[in-house]
Amino acid sequence: MKYQGIIFDLDGVISHTDQFHFKSWKTIADELGAPFDEEINHQLRGVSREESLEIILQSYAKELPRSKAYYTEKKNQEYRRLLSAMTPEDLEPEVKTTLDILRQKGYKMAVGSSSKNARLILEKLGLANFFEVVVDGNDIEQSKPHPEVFLKACERLGIAPQQCLVIEDAKAGIESAIAANMDCASFGDAARHPRANYHLKRITDLLEVLKEKEQ
Ligand code: BG6
Ligand code: MG
Repeated sequence: MKYQGIIFDLDGVISHTDQFHFKSWKTIADELGAPFDEEINHQLRGVSREESLEIILQSYAKELPRSKAYYTEKKNQEYRRLLSAMTPEDLEPEVKTTLDILRQKGYKMAVGSSSKNARLILEKLGLANFFEVVVDGNDIEQSKPHPEVFLKACERLGIAPQQCLVIEDAKAGIESAIAANMDCASFGDAARHPRANYHLKRITDLLEVLKEKEQ
């Protein structure tokens, strides 16, 4: 088997929480009167909360009425308010099926996320104990595109980077996987990223990709 470990990004891959990030940053941008749309939102995928605010402020010429910490904290409160309504029903059946099949096949699986809310989301989705390893925003010094999150995940899985496959929906995440010397399958917003090794239209396509590599 070419790959022994699969490292999943969380927001936008396992869960639709990327939409909640968008909504909660929109609340902040509206409060500031800063421009914000899906285009700017794509640049926030995979990067930390603090760096996300910096990206939003790139198109905000005025002086900030309050501290940066005020806005990141307020965004997180709004985000967690949206997360609070999540239940295991919000886990896409295709994602659940894919994860279960990979488990049966014996792949070791991890989550590699820049989010400090990753464990809460996994719990909400009924996946708190599913992954062998979870490396999230609380475990890293530098968020994606730095390779730290994926290198930590593969080290904890006990697998070499070359035997890990990363699943990502963010440009920053694909760059992170490449910097970690790992192959990468792109999905969702980044599905057509030219530097990804595989391009997934749906998450179940991952099973086909792996089947070919199992020969
Ligand atoms: C990543 C998201 O998973 O986590 C980013 O793609 C987000 O959009 C980052 O900014 C940090 O998330 P949190 O939950 O710690 O604010
Ligand atoms: Mg993502």
